[in-house]
Amino acid sequence: MFMNFWYPAEESDQITSEPKKVKMLGLWFVLWRDDNDAVHCVANTCTHRGGSLGDGKVVKNCVQCPYHGWLFNGKGECERIPSLGPLKKVPERSRIDAYPVDERYGLVFVFLGDLPEHERPTIMPINEYGTDGWRTLRMRYNWKANYIRLVENQSDPSHVEYVHSGMGMAGQDENYRVPKFNIEESEWGAGAMTEFQTPGSPDEEMGKVIVKGPSDAGSGFHGASMTWTRIHFNATEGMNMYIYACPRDEDDLEIFLINTRNTRLDPQMDERFLERMAVAVEEDRIVVEKLDPVIPSKEAIGEFIVPADDVLMTYRRMLTEWQAKGWRIDVETMNASRQRTAYAIPGPARKELDQEWAVSPVPMLK
Ligand code: FES
Ligand SMILES: [Fe+2]
Repeated sequence: MFMNFWYPAEESDQITSEPKKVKMLGLWFVLWRDDNDAVHCVANTCTHRGGSLGDGKVVKNCVQCPYHGWLFNGKGECERIPSLGPLKKVPERSRIDAYPVDERYGLVFVFLGDLPEHERPTIMPINEYGTDGWRTLRMRYNWKANYIRLVENQSDPSHVEYVHSGMGMAGQDENYRVPKFNIEESEWGAGAMTEFQTPGSPDEEMGKVIVKGPSDAGSGFHGASMTWTRIHFNATEGMNMYIYACPRDEDDLEIFLINTRNTRLDPQMDERFLERMAVAVEEDRIVVEKLDPVIPSKEAIGEFIVPADDVLMTYRRMLTEWQAKGWRIDVETMNASRQRTAYAIPGPARKELDQEWAVSPVPMLK
């Protein structure tokens, strides 16, 4: 799993003035909303003797450890150590890691890493979000799968024909092949559009929009765990799906899906789009959760790769580049020692401040 990316921790309306404990990248964090409506996220381990802050309370806009009542603010600073009495200066080493937060698209994103603001990868944008002529739906799913397998699946044009009953010809066309496509790369991702043959839609209302014949569709990824899919029903109408995934752990994946459409804007049509999404996600889940190995290796051992896999091979190449920057967590080392060592993802303050930190930074692969 990779640090130094933005991850969706939760839906905005799930974060209140009560502490919310969430797992991301195999570690625990706590989020809460202060009196000014700002959301904070800090590492869950108390620097005193390892209390679980997320199981405490929010007091005076700080999170209070349930064990001995130390108070930590949204910057990770310890504001009060009750056992020292009211006048004692709090030592710097009591600080915990705090992480930048950005609320967007109904989700709370947390930057899990130590890069300064101008060096951070971006959150995948939804340019049409909230604009006239577009309607948005949001869904969430939990898969027992690895995030790399999800991104690869979403970046793979050739599975559609076999996995998604309502889109391809379900393997019936003897002449089926994935047309040539050109990969477009951006700083943090890549993707490609291709032409598909669609059988239309069995749904009468949707059949007026999704017409039998060629249609344009494509997909790609942004960063380690975000993907986009564009499906054009005809020359002017279509829908997009944006996935913001959060690896709770290597084999536990929270998927937040945002669907935008510029056709059939009537809210009564939402139900059909939600249903259609749920069917497609379930079709993917059934296949992806059973892939062997659970976590693909970057050397592609045990695989025979074909040109239709080019986008996902670009993803694997980028993962290797991000690993070379020192952004990939050494999960095996971490898991082998975690019962005796508390780990935290280093936040930006570790580079900004010249001080010692009580909790060990996660081990990284090189
Ligand atoms: S362990 Fe948190 S206050 Fe003691
Ligand atoms: Fe799919």
